[in-house]
Amino acid sequence: MTLTTIILAAGKGTRMCSQYPKVLHSIGGKSLLRHVYDLSAKFENNTIHVVIGHGAYLVKSTFSNSLIHWVEQLQQLGTGHAVQQVADEIDSETTVLILYGDVPLLQENTLQKLLSNVNEKTLSLLTVNLKNSTGYGRIVRNEHNQVLRIVEEKDSNETEKLIKEANTGILAVQGYALKNWLTQLNNNNAQGEYYLTDIIALAVADGFTIKTCSPESENEVLGVNDKLQLAQLERVYQLQQADLIMKRGATLRDPARFDLRGHIVELGQDVEIDINVVFEGDNKIGNNVKIGANTNIKNAIIGDNVEILPNCVIENAVIGQNSRIGPFARLRPESVLASDTHIGNFVEIKKSHIGQGSKVNHLSYIGDALVGRKVNIGAGTITCNYDGANKSQTIIEDGAFIGSNTQLVAPVSVGENATIGAGSTITKDTPAGQLTLSRAKQVSVPNWQRPIKKEKL
Ligand code: UD1
Ligand code: CA
Repeated sequence: MTLTTIILAAGKGTRMCSQYPKVLHSIGGKSLLRHVYDLSAKFENNTIHVVIGHGAYLVKSTFSNSLIHWVEQLQQLGTGHAVQQVADEIDSETTVLILYGDVPLLQENTLQKLLSNVNEKTLSLLTVNLKNSTGYGRIVRNEHNQVLRIVEEKDSNETEKLIKEANTGILAVQGYALKNWLTQLNNNNAQGEYYLTDIIALAVADGFTIKTCSPESENEVLGVNDKLQLAQLERVYQLQQADLIMKRGATLRDPARFDLRGHIVELGQDVEIDINVVFEGDNKIGNNVKIGANTNIKNAIIGDNVEILPNCVIENAVIGQNSRIGPFARLRPESVLASDTHIGNFVEIKKSHIGQGSKVNHLSYIGDALVGRKVNIGAGTITCNYDGANKSQTIIEDGAFIGSNTQLVAPVSVGENATIGAGSTITKDTPAGQLTLSRAKQVSVPNWQRPIKKEKL
């Protein structure tokens, strides 16, 4: 079976009160349209068309994907009109699937079910029974329970308004039939729009059966129209992600306070995640990892037995096994920590390699540095890596001890097992094994008197 998917995404989304097109707002860090695209991309032999209008350029620019066929609908004259824009591209022999760019939580198995119902004389329609179907097109059936047509809310009479079965808008049908019905649409209705929903009555007139099915959960077909619905669907999505990660074995202290805006591509056993941890990008987490509260982790590789204490920000970093990070530590991009490292409170590491067993426990900035094994970096150490124009490297060799409040003015290196006296400003390479310090000698002034406050005149 070959498939043609048409994703409708031309609407403005006025109620989002945003300068961005609605389908670019995101759930779980991924745009609404991307959710729908990714789902349709799971189906093979599928040509995907996306109908865009408002913010067309912006929408296109968020996809580098040349596999999408973009179709511009210059005026939004209705869902039927939107599909008409693609009509010439539809191969008569394919099955056409219609999706909405603002309905992001649809599941693959629901679409499989929908598609499996399509045949020569059957149009497959996804409907849902709602307690409150206000705003939706209603499914009108005859006394034999056969679907006759869809009536839009604004065109409906009082009896039709009572119908609970709502049109989700999602349907599948053979290409040749759809193309034929598209030429017969008109806009003689309350909204003066070309309704795609009118094809149902046309199909029935052509002797088609309308076969309906429903999603497992109503959430799958909920659309986003405003920021409230965006937030509601975000929570639904995040609870699904929390469920999935718990099924993979993670312990979540509170699944309602877990946010995944990317992926956990690898997850070890006995991983504990405290509240308000936000993951972005692609992350790998080893065995026995503990992640403290209020931590942001993006594109990280975290080794076995790592403990991340609360309030850390970690981005594009590698943390070797048995290491301890935080509280309040920041690992910036290209930070690579070997095993058994300690990065403590108010420490910022950027584009640096920290060797096995090394410690930077308090209040330090280590940037553009190569730090060897078993190095101890005292509180308040700064690598002065930037002269206002260029960045330079600091090298600290194995076993070095850097006294507190040291400035290492790069480019500079500290030799193996060297010791730097506290409070030094190091501007030249320091030899291995020796004590180097640059502070002024301490003096005490005997018989010195504190100034005495003068009487006011
Ligand atoms: C539509 C259905 C309604 C269904 C509801 C489900 C019609 C006539 N009505 O109504 O039966 O219950 O969806 O949510 O189809 N769009 C375009 N171009 C247009 C108009 C819309 O691309 O000219 C896109 C929108 O961006 C959106 C989708 O089509 O993604 C649905 O449009 P919307 O205006 O929200 O349709 P509803 O009036 O809600
Ligand atoms: Ca809608």
